[in-house]
Amino acid sequence: MNFKEEQKNKIAGIENILARFLPEAAGYQKIIMEAMEYSLMAGGKRLRPLLMWETFRMFGGTGAVIEPFMAALEMIHTYSLVHDDLPAMDNDEYRRGRKTTHVVYGEAMGILAGDALLNRAFETAASAFDIEGADARTVGRAMQILAAKAGVFGMIGGQVVDVESSGKKIDAEKLDFIYRLKTGALIECAMMIGATLAGARKTEVRAVESIASKVGEAFQIQDDILDVTSTTEVLGKPTHSDEKNEKTTYVTYKGLEASRAEVEHLSKEAVRQLRELNPPDSFLEELLLSLIHREK
Ligand code: IPE
Ligand code: IPE
Ligand code: MG
Ligand code: MG
Ligand code: MG
Repeated sequence: MNFKEEQKNKIAGIENILARFLPEAAGYQKIIMEAMEYSLMAGGKRLRPLLMWETFRMFGGTGAVIEPFMAALEMIHTYSLVHDDLPAMDNDEYRRGRKTTHVVYGEAMGILAGDALLNRAFETAASAFDIEGADARTVGRAMQILAAKAGVFGMIGGQVVDVESSGKKIDAEKLDFIYRLKTGALIECAMMIGATLAGARKTEVRAVESIASKVGEAFQIQDDILDVTSTTEVLGKPTHSDEKNEKTTYVTYKGLEASRAEVEHLSKEAVRQLRELNPPDSFLEELLLSLIHREK
């Protein structure tokens, strides 16, 4: 099986896991469950659960304890996108190839669907305590990572400074802060939880955090590149959103060529550091390198 086929199979496995942890749409609150499913099952790249799974495997992890965490992180990522697209934030009308959740279900339901995904994420992650053979301390530690990386010292903190900086000139240090938090934090979360649940040592988890931070930064720079070079059809979300919202991005700051070079540099550095930790893992390496030239 080649890399692309293997990736497709793994993503299909992730889709099944996600569907398993979603509530069945029923009752008076049926509408919100439909909105949750609408945003979650819209077919994103599933990069974060994939990175979590692969890191888990790289550290010798086995068993089902990883599955609730894979679903939980994708729920949190999806809620961050639903809220990111709201009129009060980036005000975008397309996501994952379809109308954004607030456009279809209204703004109030968009907000509530995001809130509901966030809560469902922690309910889902906590179900890992019930898995036979799961180590409660390790599961607790993974939940701490999930909460911290999604919160004010993680993704939300990055979104706060991103919103605050719209329409303003910011320096390289602040831009780096925004990228490390708004995007880097959930990617760090993915790989750290994978390593933690596989029983990696604290020093190894710290090394994984620093590698993932590079992956996250490269990922956001590539997102900014695609915002100016791609099309809505390919991306499944609007292009030129950053310009519309007067964002300083790596691209506006350094230009396209330097941005592309930085994506490549950071990704190759991440792969190099990963090799220092564990014997080469060809799928994970190929996955990280494929992000350099990703088109969506
Ligand atoms: C979009 O993330 C938001 C960023 C952090 C750049 P993805 O590009 O991973 O979005 P999906 O999950 O594939 O839709
Ligand atoms: C958002 O960055 C990252 C999140 C935490 C949601 P962007 O605003 O650039 O993400 P897109 O381009 O809308 O996916
Ligand atoms: Mg945004
Ligand atoms: Mg946005
Ligand atoms: Mg973007």
